[in-house]
Amino acid sequence: MKYIISLSLLTFFLSSAMIQKNTITKPQPSVYQPDSGKIIYETYCLACHQEDGSGVPNMNPPLIKTDWVLGDSTRLINVILKGLKNTEINGDSYSNEMPSHDFLTDYQIAEVLTYVRKSFGNQAGPISSEDVKKQRAKK
Ligand code: HEC
Repeated sequence: MKYIISLSLLTFFLSSAMIQKNTITKPQPSVYQPDSGKIIYETYCLACHQEDGSGVPNMNPPLIKTDWVLGDSTRLINVILKGLKNTEINGDSYSNEMPSHDFLTDYQIAEVLTYVRKSFGNQAGPISSEDVKKQRAKK
């Protein structure tokens, strides 16, 4: 009887050790999905500025080589943090308003602006989370 108990105990420990080993070595599906500028753009900007950044005539301005996109990064970050309205953009005006997107994190704003500055034919330097953080603090 004693022998049977210790044998079943041994089997129990051995099998639980094997199950444990199995879960540790089995590759886990990745739950970490890094935010990417493109995904943020598609989620929050595309509806107005369109997939190719060309905007909608008289309503939403293009994001292609405008002074805002290529110019001073501080001014660009503030468009996202504070929104924008009644501004002439490269000689045209737009009936819609750009809503504030200050609910995005510093990292998300940096990613989406870097994406915009490197897409649609634009070639301008990246924006860092640190840049956004500084501007947000000044608000
Ligand atoms: C509800 C529509 C709407 C959404 C959503 C929106 N925008 Fe805008 N955006 C506008 C409008 C309209 C203007 C121009 C406002 C004006 O006339 O002053 C503008 C202006 C801008 C400008 C400055 C002008 C230019 O064309 O270069 C930038 C840069 C910009 N938006 C980027 C973004 C980014 C990045 C997002 C997403 C995080 C975004 N916008 C989301 C409507 C929108």
